[in-house]
Amino acid sequence: MRLGLACWSFLLCALLLFMIAYDGGPRKITITFGRDIELKKVSTHMQNLETDGHILHKITQSKTEEDEEEEEHEKINHNHMDPELNVFFTPKDLKIGNKMPIYFAHENISASPKFLPREESEKIPFSSRHLPSLLKFFSFPKHSPQAKAMKYTLKHCEFKAMEGETKFCATSLESLLDSTRKIFGPSEFSMLSTTYLTKSPVSLQNYTISKVKNISVSRVIGCHPLPYPYAVFYCHSQENDTRLFVVMLEGEQDGARVKAPAICHMDTSMWNKDHVAFDVLKVQPGTSPVCHFFPPDNLIWVPLSSVL
Ligand SMILES: *[C@@H]1O[C@H](CO)[C@@H](O)[C@H](O)[C@H]1NC(C)=O
Ligand SMILES: *[C@@H]1O[C@H](CO)[C@@H](O)[C@H](O)[C@H]1NC(C)=O
Ligand SMILES: *[C@@H]1O[C@H](CO)[C@@H](O)[C@H](O)[C@H]1NC(C)=O
Ligand SMILES: *[C@@H]1O[C@H](CO)[C@@H](O)[C@H](O)[C@H]1NC(C)=O
Repeated sequence: MRLGLACWSFLLCALLLFMIAYDGGPRKITITFGRDIELKKVSTHMQNLETDGHILHKITQSKTEEDEEEEEHEKINHNHMDPELNVFFTPKDLKIGNKMPIYFAHENISASPKFLPREESEKIPFSSRHLPSLLKFFSFPKHSPQAKAMKYTLKHCEFKAMEGETKFCATSLESLLDSTRKIFGPSEFSMLSTTYLTKSPVSLQNYTISKVKNISVSRVIGCHPLPYPYAVFYCHSQENDTRLFVVMLEGEQDGARVKAPAICHMDTSMWNKDHVAFDVLKVQPGTSPVCHFFPPDNLIWVPLSSVL
């Protein structure tokens, strides 16, 4: 495989290779799509995405009564802010010495669904239209959390891009790299992701910013995993609207050192006013850039020249 990218560190390369499953057909892979992948968890991850509001709205419209009861229940029990929302900030927070609470998911990557080789994934339809037969194929009951998650993922991938936005869903590593290559053109590209430099068992803690690298890029592609029986990444990019930083963080509680890419979206005027970031930061659409860190399983692609 021609990868056309430079790995930033051995760890990242290992991670990428790890995510590729060359053995086993789709049937076998259903095992990795366990109970732990539920819509709630994923929908919180999705809060990072600009199109989120629209998608959630569509899914909510087709909710069952059961779901609604469950949600009411959650509201009562979770009056406080969801800890996973501790990823948003504004550019003025990016000062050395500044302290902020940040949540980094501790996902067990070996338990995440693996990429299928492209030849395999291309044999399986990937569209809402085929959902009933896909559910049969993967043996998921119609109202199961897995069925809901698949529906969510397919809808998310079919949703139209915002103005100025480029988006795609990749169902194999090869297609992810091809689509990325198409966006960057002839320039080589490189991958960043949140990396623990020391081990840490803590998901949420206060971090002190010890270093900020301001990386000048015209385009950044952010890729987020979506819940599906095999690895599916939703990738998107907004030209000229993104600032990229690599931030070194030190955990207050356990001294964990984390190297974390962060993105600032400079123009939020077109965003859904209900986007959770506005709640968290207490700002209105268009009045402030919105920045966020990424969970460790997200991938960020940038032109190679920008990180040299
Ligand atoms: C991660 O998941 C794998 C496979 O499901 C399991 O064998 C391993 O023990 C898990 N590791 C941790 C730290 O939970
Ligand atoms: C972070 O620090 C603030 C102020 O020192 C404290 O109130 C808060 O509980 C801390 N948060 C966490 C997650 O440790
Ligand atoms: C990062 O660099 C850009 C362009 O050089 C500049 O406009 C911006 O103020 C810088 N941001 C920070 C937080 O240093
Ligand atoms: C982004 O910036 C470049 C260079 O300044 C410009 O040529 C291009 O038209 C801009 N694209 C958009 C969508 O604004």
